[in-house]
Amino acid sequence: MRIAVVGCGYVGLVTGACFAELGHDVVCVDHDAARIAALQNGIPPIYENFLPELLRRHHGGRLTFTTSTADAVSSSAVVFIAVATPSTEDGAADLSCVEAAVAEIARSIDRFKVIVQKSTVPVTSGDWVHELLVSHGVRRSHFEVVSNPEFLREGTAVTDFLYGDRIVIGSDSPKAAKVMREIYAPLINGSYGRSENAIARPKASPAKPELIQTSRNSAELIKYAANAFLSMKISFINAVANFCEAIGADVEDVARGVGADNRIGPSFLRAGLGYGGSCFPKDVAAFKTMVRQWECNFALLEEVTRINEEQHHIFLTKIKNALGHLEGKRLGVLGLSFKGGTDDIRHSPAIRVVKSLLRENCSVMAYDPAAMERTKTEVLSKGISYVHDAYSAARNADALLILTDWDEFARLDLKRVRGLLRSPVIVDGRNLYDPKKVAAQGLSYYSVGRPHAIHELPAQTEDRRSERIPAAVTINLGQA
Ligand code: UDX
Repeated sequence: MRIAVVGCGYVGLVTGACFAELGHDVVCVDHDAARIAALQNGIPPIYENFLPELLRRHHGGRLTFTTSTADAVSSSAVVFIAVATPSTEDGAADLSCVEAAVAEIARSIDRFKVIVQKSTVPVTSGDWVHELLVSHGVRRSHFEVVSNPEFLREGTAVTDFLYGDRIVIGSDSPKAAKVMREIYAPLINGSYGRSENAIARPKASPAKPELIQTSRNSAELIKYAANAFLSMKISFINAVANFCEAIGADVEDVARGVGADNRIGPSFLRAGLGYGGSCFPKDVAAFKTMVRQWECNFALLEEVTRINEEQHHIFLTKIKNALGHLEGKRLGVLGLSFKGGTDDIRHSPAIRVVKSLLRENCSVMAYDPAAMERTKTEVLSKGISYVHDAYSAARNADALLILTDWDEFARLDLKRVRGLLRSPVIVDGRNLYDPKKVAAQGLSYYSVGRPHAIHELPAQTEDRRSERIPAAVTINLGQA
C-alpha cells in the first residue's frame, strides 16, 4: 500500500519506518528541511533503538522523505497525521499543527483516501478533522477519517510498534477499517515476526497484537485512558513510597508484593522522581481539560498530577537532608533524559532537579549517555559542566545523584565511586541499588521509599557523624 506520514518526529518517523519494514511504500513529510535532508542521508534525528537499522534497510527504497505534503498525499492511498500536539498554557492539546496539516492534505485529495489520526488528539477530534476537510472543499465521498492511536514508548518505539499489545482502529466506515486491517495485516496475522530478517521480538511482547475495532471517539479515549492509568500507577507507588519512608518499609518489596498479583502486574510500579516525558504530563493535562469541558468529574486525575508534582519537592528535600545544606555544594549528576534509553529531555524530572540545584548555587557535573547535547540548549546556567562518564561526575563531588535509570548507572564500581567522592554520599532517585550493598562499600545511600543506609564510619572520622541526619536504619558494618 502507498502510505504518506505527515510529521517526522518520535511517532511519525517510527511509524513510517515500520510501515516500510512491513512492505509498504512510504513517504514521510516534514517542513523541517534540515531534518528531511538528514533523513535522506539515512541519519535519524532521534535516538531510537533499531531506527538506524530500519533507515539503512529502506531509505531511498520503500521509504522516502520530502518537504512537500502535496507530493506525498497525491501519491498515497492512506495519509497518517503524526504531527506534534503539545499542551497549551491551560493544559489543553494544541491542535494548530494538526489544523495546518489537514489544510495542506485537503489540497491534494483528488480521489478516495483514508486520513488517519496517529497523533494523540482530544476525543471527538476525528469529527473536527472531518468537518475541516469538508470546509476546505474536499468531497465527503473522497475521504474517511480514522483514529489509530499509538502506544509507543520512547527508547523501545520500534519494537512497541512491531510487537505491540494491541492495534486500535477507530472508524465507523467498513471501507476504511478494511484498508487499516490490510496495512497492519503482517502484524495482525503474526507473519512479520516469522519473516526472515524481522527485528527481534522482545521476550515480554506478544507474537500478535489484539485487534480492537471501535468507534473513533472510543479509539481516541483509549489513548488518554491508557496513559492516565499508567500515570496513576506511578503516582500510586510514589505515594506508597512516601508512606514507606515514614514507617520504615521498603517500597521495592511492597511493589514486588503488589505487582505479583496478576490483576495488577509489576510494570509501572517503580517509585522514583515521578513521571516525565512528552506524553504523560501532556496527556493527563489534556484529559483533565476534556473532562472539565464536558462538565464531568474525574478528581482522581487531579490527585495523580498533585502526587507527581510533589515527588520533585520531596526528592530535593532528601538531597538537602543528606548534605545538610546545598549552597555551594559540588554535585555529580547521573542522568538528564526523562528516562533511560532516550535522549529526550522534555518534561524531564532530572532536568528539573538540576535546575533547582543550580538555583541553590550548587555546581553540577552532569553525565548522560545521550541527552547532554539537548540539555546544553535547555540549561544555560554557568553552574553546570558536562563530563564524559559517571566516574568523572563523582570526582571530588559532595554527593552523587542518580536521576535517570540508564542501565549503566546500575552497574557502577561503587568502590571506585567511593574513592572519587569528596564525601561518601549517593542520593538515588531511581532505586538502582540494594542499600546494604552500597553501605558495604563505605557509602551513605539515600533512595526513594526505602530506609537510608548510612555506613558506620571508623571512629577517626567521628566528626562526620554530626553531619548525618537521623537515619531510619543504621547498618553497622564494623570494619567492612
Ligand atoms: C508513554 C507510554 O508508556 C506510551 O505507551 C505512550 O505511547 C507514550 O507515553 P514514554 O513517555 O515514552 O511512553 O515513557 P514511559 O516508559 O511510559 O515512562 C514515562 C515516565 O514514567 C518516565 O519519566 C519514566 O521514568 C516514568 N516511570 C515509568 C516511572 O517513574 N516508574 C515506572 O514504573 C515506569
